Formats: sequence, structure tokens, C-alpha cells
Amino acid sequence: MATNGKRETVIEARGVEVGFGDRLVLKGADLDVYRGEILGFVGGSGAGKSVLMRTIIGLIRKSAGTIKVLGSDLDQLSDDERRAIERRWGVLFQQGALFSSLTVMENLQFTVRENLHLPQRLMDELAVAKLEMVGLDASVCSKYPSELSGGMTKRVALARALALDPEIVFLDEPTSGLDPIGAGDFDTLIATLQRVLGLTVYMVTHDLDSLSTVCDRIAVLYDGKVIAAGTMDTMLKSEHPWMKEYFRGKRARAAIGAREAALSGNG
Ligand SMILES: Nc1ncnc2c1ncn2[C@@H]1O[C@H](COP(=O)(O)OP(=O)(O)OP(=O)(O)O)[C@@H](O)[C@H]1O
Ligand SMILES: [Mg+2]
Repeated sequence: MATNGKRETVIEARGVEVGFGDRLVLKGADLDVYRGEILGFVGGSGAGKSVLMRTIIGLIRKSAGTIKVLGSDLDQLSDDERRAIERRWGVLFQQGALFSSLTVMENLQFTVRENLHLPQRLMDELAVAKLEMVGLDASVCSKYPSELSGGMTKRVALARALALDPEIVFLDEPTSGLDPIGAGDFDTLIATLQRVLGLTVYMVTHDLDSLSTVCDRIAVLYDGKVIAAGTMDTMLKSEHPWMKEYFRGKRARAAIGAREAALSGNG
């Protein structure tokens, strides 16, 4: 990674091993994420992308390796220190992006309430400000997740990830389930927020459009290891069979065709 000069590493994973029962899912994964970049993280279904993301944020225990986030090894911290670091990231999970029994407003205030002691009025104003950031208005506040469209749900979940003004956001397949135009809009939103807020974005995605339009770098998980990390150009040049098929195969061409068809149909 010679071109990266002195960029600050905000996530540093080394030799991460995670298994369930006697099956090792991560077999020594190494990964660096640099401050201010949008990293796209890819790999086959079941490869362990969500597992690695959840391991980085401390929700899954690893059997070997070290992970530093924002300069700290989470395993070495006291509970208070840990909570302080946790406040510096936001997460959009692949499943159950929102609590279904809470309104949008309550969803947005959930983490804030746990972490900060603010008067209700200020929390309400903050929640509305976050909704506006993601392109929604206050009218959705009283709705329940079941009343939202897929795209709105993703936006609310993103607003919730931004609730504590994080430095890093972890997004697990934020555009899955959206149509190509909705996904494109969401990508634009992520890129804008990244720029305006100076975020570091860790984004697990299957979306080749997201990868080529908004991601600065891409990392590939295969057989329990990160086998490549670099720009889209680097990915396209790889001769690794899985990467070749993923980035240049039939599926890749179909994805590009679908996006173009959707855009021309709407323009
Ligand atoms: N809590 C768990 N207990 C047992 N096995 C698990 C657990 N979480 C994940 N796994 C297994 O680990 C493997 C990797 O899962 P993971 O969810 O990380 O895949 P993924 O790469 O995110 O796939 P997808 O693209 O489908 O979301 C899978 O085989 C899964 O069944
Ligand atoms: Mg996953």
C-alpha cells in the first residue's frame, strides 16, 4: 500500500480468527482502514463479512489476533474506556436495522439516551436534524418501522448510526433490497455525508455500483482472509479466480447493464 503515505489507520486488524463450533470462519484476517476513506468490503455470501464487522466492534469474540480501533485495542480497555470509544462509531446492521416496537423518533433517541443526558427538547431537535441529514423530514418521527418503505428504513437506520456524531460508520449492506435508483441515491447520500462530516465509512456491500462509484478502496474476504485491498482498478486487474468472476464475470456485466437500463428508463 505504498501510495497511502502517512494516512492515519483508524482500524487495524491483524490475524483475526473467529470460529463457531469447530468451524473457523475467519482464519487470520488482516485489514487496515484509513481515516476519511470509504472502504467497500466484499466477499461471497457466508464468507464472514458481517462476522468481521461485528468482531471489530466487539460483538463477537475472536479466538486469535488483535484489533485496534481509533488507536485502542478494545480487549485492553476498561468498561468506561470502551464505552467512550464505542460512542465514536455508529452502526447500521444488516438485519434488524431498527427496533420494530419503537417509533422512528424513539429509534433515533435510543443510543443518545443511553450515552448522553440531554433535555428531551434538545434530543427531539437533534433527531430531526439527523433525519434532515439523511433526506427525511420530521413527519416520519411518529411512524413505526413497519410503516416505512425499504429506502426510508435504510435512511432512518443511517440517521441512527449518525446519532452520536461518530467518526466511523459501519454499514452492513446498506443498499441491499433497494432498486438501482434508490441504491444510487443512497450511495450519493453516503458520499455526501462522508465528505461533509469527514467520516470514515466501512461498508459491507454486494453492490458493484456502490463499489465503483463511492468506495475509495475495496477489500476482499475469501476463505477467511482478506486476500486483496486496493482501488477498483486493482480489483479489475486481479487474476484471482473469485475476484475475476466477481468483478469481471457475467454477474458484474449484468449489474452494470441493469443500472444503465434503470437510469435510461428514468431519464
Ligand atoms: N452467531 C453465529 N453463530 C454461528 N454461526 C454464525 C454466527 N454468525 C455467523 N455465523 C456463520 O458464519 C459464517 C459467516 O457469516 P456472515 O454473516 O459473516 O456472512 P456474510 O459474509 O456477512 O454473508 P452475507 O453476504 O450473506 O451477509 C456463516 O456460515 C454463518 O452461518
Ligand atoms: Mg452479512
